Amino acid sequence: MRKFVLLFLSLAAAAAGAADDTVKLDTPTTTMTFRRDADGVWLMPYYGAKIEDAADAEALEGDPCRHDGRIGAVAGQAKPASYSVYGAKEFGIDANKSGGLCVKHDDGTMASELVGLGAEWIDDKTAAKHLVLPMKDSVHDFLVLQHFRVFDDTDAVETWTEFSNRETGAVELYRMDSAALTFPLLADEFHFMSLTGQWGCENQISESELPRGQAVVISSRNGVRDAWFANPAFMLSVGRRADECSGTVIGGVLAWSGAWSISAHRDYADLLELRLGADNANGAYRLEPGSSVTAPKAVLVRSDRGKGAVSRELHRWARNHRLPHGRELRDIVLNSWEGAYFDFDERRLVRMMDGLAEMGGEMFVVDDGWFGNGRYARDNDRNGLGDWRVNARKLPRGLGHLAGEAKSRGLKFGLWVEPEMVNVTSELYTRHPEWAMRCKGRPLGTGRGGTQCVLDFTNPDVVDNISSQLGAILDAAPGISYFKWDANANFFNVGSPTSGRDQNLYFDYTAGLYEVLKRLRAKRPDLIVQACSSGGGRMEYGFLGYADEFWPSDDTDARERVFIQWGAGMFYPANAIAAHVTVSPNHQTMRETPLKYRFDVAMSARLGLELDPRKMSAEDTGFAKRCIAVYKSIRPVVQQGELYRLVSPYGRTYAAQMHVSTDCRRAVVFVWGLNRGPCKDFIPPVRLDGLAPDLRYRVTEVNLPDGAGGHCGASGSAVSGQALMAAGLPVYIGKGDYDSAVFVLEAQ
Ligand code: GLA
Repeated sequence: MRKFVLLFLSLAAAAAGAADDTVKLDTPTTTMTFRRDADGVWLMPYYGAKIEDAADAEALEGDPCRHDGRIGAVAGQAKPASYSVYGAKEFGIDANKSGGLCVKHDDGTMASELVGLGAEWIDDKTAAKHLVLPMKDSVHDFLVLQHFRVFDDTDAVETWTEFSNRETGAVELYRMDSAALTFPLLADEFHFMSLTGQWGCENQISESELPRGQAVVISSRNGVRDAWFANPAFMLSVGRRADECSGTVIGGVLAWSGAWSISAHRDYADLLELRLGADNANGAYRLEPGSSVTAPKAVLVRSDRGKGAVSRELHRWARNHRLPHGRELRDIVLNSWEGAYFDFDERRLVRMMDGLAEMGGEMFVVDDGWFGNGRYARDNDRNGLGDWRVNARKLPRGLGHLAGEAKSRGLKFGLWVEPEMVNVTSELYTRHPEWAMRCKGRPLGTGRGGTQCVLDFTNPDVVDNISSQLGAILDAAPGISYFKWDANANFFNVGSPTSGRDQNLYFDYTAGLYEVLKRLRAKRPDLIVQACSSGGGRMEYGFLGYADEFWPSDDTDARERVFIQWGAGMFYPANAIAAHVTVSPNHQTMRETPLKYRFDVAMSARLGLELDPRKMSAEDTGFAKRCIAVYKSIRPVVQQGELYRLVSPYGRTYAAQMHVSTDCRRAVVFVWGLNRGPCKDFIPPVRLDGLAPDLRYRVTEVNLPDGAGGHCGASGSAVSGQALMAAGLPVYIGKGDYDSAVFVLEAQ
């Protein structure tokens, strides 16, 4: 709080003397402008393609931005506010009924009007530019800082708000959005795209026109698994529906692991209000006097070059500015889950390590089942969550020994944990039943296994206990270099037995979660963390500020993964998308697919395996070994290159995408059949993208099993980038269902 007030006072003092009431914020190819109107309210008259001269932007401001009187009211134009607030004066005679901030002040009144105190550029070593707009309610001592942070290597704009209560009593925040932008008139047509799904079918793309006079809201009202049914991310076509390469798009994500809400409202005059924030519809956030709260970061990207460009800008932002180790190459993992489930001992795990080492893998991860003891042993999903000590029967020589076994085979070692949950059948719960979330006077609701609850991370004792248990695991086995952080529950019981602040539960739970993650990262900055939550429930940039990758789905069927990973790639980079080769028939769908197909799909993201290598035939092991060697050679391009989606799987019998190195000298093209359709052995030529037109690329097909014929007559030839993009690669994928091909392109 002290920090907030000091910053606010210094900014306000600077602002009081500021003569300039206009601010221009540039990214490499976009510009945002801000201007204080006659009432002192910050407007955002422009967000669009770059304009070098601020005076030009001002000269072309739309009329509604200029008229503070009746014309705006008659035309129904709302203020193009940089932060729209409930109760604030609108043009003419009205008051804003919408807005991203709605505060019940300490005297019980609900209206607010934020008066801008100026603008300040603050010194931020990690960003190219960091703008802060300090604001104060015109009546109450309620303060807001609106932040904008931009970089010189991406068009992504980070924006968020801080709220500070200097009133005499507590205030309640009914809405406290990170961003609430009312745009000036942009277009007379809009289309909204987002991801939806559930267990086993995450990231399905949903897109439709945003009709005039309607709003689209995507949200999660949960506290955990908040990216499952809907992902906190969207792309909005401004004007006609954008495609991959053309059309104006504003993309956005919210970096928050708790309940969230994103909305786009197009009013009868085609004005657009975009809001992104933590959702406190399940309890207005109570802010005590003298306290402040920081809303999560929202990130916006705008492009006139279609959805593909928006994805690439977000990927670059994620790698360079969000993921803890976003520029490092990720290892090839073998995770024990689908190969062994709960059924393992040290001998079996070591034999799996042998198989992984033989194939050229790099990281062995023991999934669920390694902890809990005695009657709470984790031999199934009913016991042991909360007791993070090694199971002495399965692993008598401990985790340190197992990590040593991995090391002696040239492998790194990782472990599964589910720190936010507890089984009532655990030592932890037996000692501290009050540490599980629970509604006073109601029976305890439980989840997986009939015994699983969510720990109350709003309780500092719980945060301390779980932090020190995680620390103890790492101390006992310093060889651990990877945690798979799982979270397989919802808020079954929406109450804290100890805090007395249930209305703040959703927000404060996530704050407690981040505190545990912060301590973990402080202890082991090098640790690689995977965000998992029954599959893709934690595919979001809040958790990905602490984790490097996520598990997009428990569905590992390669054909389904084409869609799941396609959706994920809209907003998240390939190095963060964990994709594991599993057995056929697949355990989730029972579908049979060739091993080649499974590798070809998994190799377009962070490749791993999830099977028992000892059960593979010699032929399959040999093929896997070759694919892994290929993956190592293309990994820098796949994980760190630019993604171009070439042919969407939606409505077709095949899909294609490619990854291009940032210097355009190498590329990898993936073509996946989804199943055969009539007369579809010969698909239309796959027109490539992102290459340098004047370079010649040698095309080489990889991942071909011994004796198998190739999929493209041009393999082996050197062709110009221009021709590859104009005429396209002629590809044949007719060798039965789930045929696929991978091509490597090297500039000569
Ligand atoms: C969740 C995860 C799986 C696996 C199991 C273990 O379902 O999504 O990958 O780790 O838990 O219980």
